[in-house]
This record gives sequence, structure tokens and C-alpha cells, in this order.
Amino acid sequence: MSELSPKLIDRIHGLVHEYGQQHVLEFWDRLTEQQQVALTSQLAQIDFPLVQSLFEQHRQAKDSVGSGRDLSTLAPPKSIRLNDNNVLSYKQAYATGEELLQAGRVGVVIVAGGQGSRLGFNHPKGLFPIGPLSERTLFEFILDKLAGYENKYQTRIPLFIMTSPTVHAETVAYFQSRNFFGRSDRIEFFCQNTMPAVDASDGKLLLKSTYEIFSSPNGHGGMLEAMQQQEILARCAEQEIDTLFYGQVDNPLSPTCSPALLGYHAASDAEVTLQTIAKQSADDRTGNIVSLNDRTQIIEYSEMPDEFARQLDDQNQLKYWAANIAVHVFQTGFLQTVATTGGLPYHFARKRVNHINQDGALVTPDAPNAIKFERFIFDLLPLAESTVTVEAERQFVFAPVKNSDSAGFSSPQTSREGIGSLHRHWLQTAGCSVNAETVVEIHPAYAVDLPHLLQRKDIPLAITQDTYLCEPEN
Ligand code: UD1
Repeated sequence: MSELSPKLIDRIHGLVHEYGQQHVLEFWDRLTEQQQVALTSQLAQIDFPLVQSLFEQHRQAKDSVGSGRDLSTLAPPKSIRLNDNNVLSYKQAYATGEELLQAGRVGVVIVAGGQGSRLGFNHPKGLFPIGPLSERTLFEFILDKLAGYENKYQTRIPLFIMTSPTVHAETVAYFQSRNFFGRSDRIEFFCQNTMPAVDASDGKLLLKSTYEIFSSPNGHGGMLEAMQQQEILARCAEQEIDTLFYGQVDNPLSPTCSPALLGYHAASDAEVTLQTIAKQSADDRTGNIVSLNDRTQIIEYSEMPDEFARQLDDQNQLKYWAANIAVHVFQTGFLQTVATTGGLPYHFARKRVNHINQDGALVTPDAPNAIKFERFIFDLLPLAESTVTVEAERQFVFAPVKNSDSAGFSSPQTSREGIGSLHRHWLQTAGCSVNAETVVEIHPAYAVDLPHLLQRKDIPLAITQDTYLCEPEN
């Protein structure tokens, strides 16, 4: 929008008044023309009836999908556990997944629109250097693994990266500066939408400046509408990519395109498959994968009543053991169906939001003053007719980077240790002696996973100093 038609101004100003939000025009007459354009284009994107109705729901229920729900049918999820005698062995599942990859039926979606505020890194999180020796970034961990599987199976795996307005330009510039890691023909960035936050007391929009409404990304569940709007789901279906691996950018051990996981998904005929790990304790800060009303669902750890979180089964183990590591496999057709039939609900989060008041003075609240509206991807789960939850060992699949090192968990340091100890374990399994003090890192071009490493004939017998195993060109 470069200039404003009087008709558009009338329409937007009319809406603003109709929904009792006229305070956002408080400074209108003092704005430059450019600022008026900026404010109008932002207002034009706001779904006023939706914002009003969400605030009403919040007032009545406190949370649309979270707390306060009836847990009388709560049970552990239907799952394939590590120590079960499963109908399909790991080896069979791996072979089935390999076939899917070879047939070019798999795509990957990575959500990377978050702002990473807990980490205190002032760039998109995917640019964070995490390789213990290589300093490869979180994005490179995903891309290198994809390239590893593409080479191993002589296939092509399209990658879709979700950004948000705050991180989009810097993310794309990073990929451009690296020639899209040689995959410009099969990488696509799509930007999620935003939602305005409202004042928790009266539902009023908050002004970030005299001409800007405070808004933030609409949650990772915004992926669905963004993929639909940008016709990514339709294109995947056209290209017979019927299986989409989903992961978060913050986990360098995410089992991106894990053949075994893909194989369990295909063999179970599931619309959604979830990778899970066992919770370390009842206080583990991961979402809980559960069955509720006979459907698989996720209940955030903060919303799980303590009596359930701590409940033990008859083996004296946590009854609700399954942790959400945000690794899923979706059928493309299932996502298309949900996207065209109503989408996902919103969650409400009370947050502190700085804003300006009607005198233009900055307000910096010391307690939560605003409600943010977010969609969560896992609200897809109860909509699926068939799901399966597959357990993996924590050390193989989960070493997220969420907090700064001072937190002592889910931090860069714990993540680097996780990568090093997994790669050490692989080498030891392959017969190489490495002691616990030696740092090792394996580039996926050397071995993309343990079965791949075991096929190599040139693994060293012993490693006695910190070593980064990569192919010569890396
Ligand atoms: C999330 C899960 C939690 C799980 C944990 C595992 C939720 C609500 N909780 O928690 O159950 O145990 O991961 O690591 O998801 N993102 C966007 N757009 C947004 C918001 C987030 O792309 O609008 C992306 C982020 O870039 C990140 C991912 O979603 O990759 C996770 O978001 P975050 O809010 O950090 O979730 P967690 O609190 O870590």
C-alpha cells in the first residue's frame, strides 16, 4: 500500500469505531503520510470480529483449549514403546521409511518463526552456532542431515521453512549469503501471520508507537493457514509428496526424515505420527502426550494437574510418561482437510507488553498486562482419526536450545554435550574407542545416522583427541 484512498480510510476507521478501538487513531492527525499508510495497512490486516470474540472467550473461560478441561478420560497414548515386542521391528520400519524417501514422497517443514527471547540471541534462532567443534548453525544441522539422506537414497527432499515477519528478512538473507546451501530449487520460506495482543483488562489493542499496533507471530499452529494460503499443501499433493516431516528449528538432534519414524508412520496408516521420549521426571518441562476422549492430545506441562503428572503405573513408572519433543509426521491430505475445514483454535497467554498510552508516553508494566493469542500445531491431533506415538531414546533425538547457559538446562552447553555424547555413542557402537572426555562430532556427509555409520569400512579404531569427522570437501 503506497497511498491511501479516502474510501479505504473510511472503511478502516469505520471498523475501528465499530469495534471500540478508536484509541488507535489518537495520533492520526499528527502522523506523516507514510506513517498513516503504515498504520492503515496494519489495521487492514486485523480481523476485528475475531479479536473481539477471542477476548470474550478469554473473559469467560480463561483459556479456550488449555486449563479447565475435563480430564476424566485421561489415559497414556497408544504407542510403540522401545521395550515392547512390536509387530513391526525397528529394522522393518527403517526399510519402509527408506522406500518412502527413495520414492521422493517426503517433504520437511521446519517452524522457525519464534523470537528466541529466552535464549537471548538477537537473530533468528536458526543462525545460532551449535556444532560442538564445527560451530555449524541450527539450520545447518537440519540442512546437512537432509543432504545426507538425499545422497544416501539418491532422492530429493523439499524443505519448507516457516518464518515470521520479525525474522523473515534476516533468515532469507542468511540463506542467500550461502547460496541456499545448493538447494535453491527445493527450499521455500513462508511467513506466518501475526495477531495483535490486547489489554487484559478491556480487550483494547495496544500501540507500540503512535503508528504501530503491537502484534506478534500467531503461534506455530499458524503454519497450517500459511501453508494453505501460499498453496504449499496443494503443490505438495500435486507432486505426490504425501508425507510431511515436521520439526522445530531449536533441536539439532531432531530426527529429521528418520527412516524408522517415517516407516512406523506409513506402516501404521496414521494421519499423524508423534516421536516421543520418556519423561525424566514428573517435573520435566515438556508437553505431555496423552489420550483424552480416545484421541491423542498434548497437554502442556504447565497445564497438567500435579496429581496426574506424578501418578505412577503398576510398574512404579510415571503413568503419563510420553514427552512431546515436537517431532511429527503428517499426511499432506490430512493437513489439507483441516486447513479447509475451520483451522485450529487459539490459546491465550498473559504476557508483559510495553506500549504507549494516550499521551504517547511509554508504559513498561512489571506484571502481565496483555493477552496474546496463539495457535498450536498440536491442536491438530484430536482431529486425526488415526495417530501413533513412537518412543525413541532421549539421547538420540532431543537436545534443544531454549535457554541461555545460566539456566543449566535446554541451553547451548547442554545441547552441545548432547550432540557430542550421541556421536561418541555411535562411534563406540561401531567399535571405535573414544573416552568420555574426548569431544567428537560427525557431519552427516560422513554418516547421517548410526545405521549409515555402521556401513562404513574406514571408521578409526580409536579417537584420542577432539575430532570432527566430515568428508574432505566439508
Ligand atoms: C514446545 C512445546 C512443548 C514441547 C517443546 C519441545 C508448545 C506450546 N510447546 O515448547 O510441548 O515439549 O516444544 O521442545 O509448542 N514458533 C514459530 N512461530 C510461533 C511460535 C513458535 O515458528 O509463533 C516455533 C519456534 O521458532 C520454535 C518452536 O515453534 O521452533 C517452539 O516454540 P516455543 O514457543 O519455543 O515452544 P516451547 O515452549 O519450547
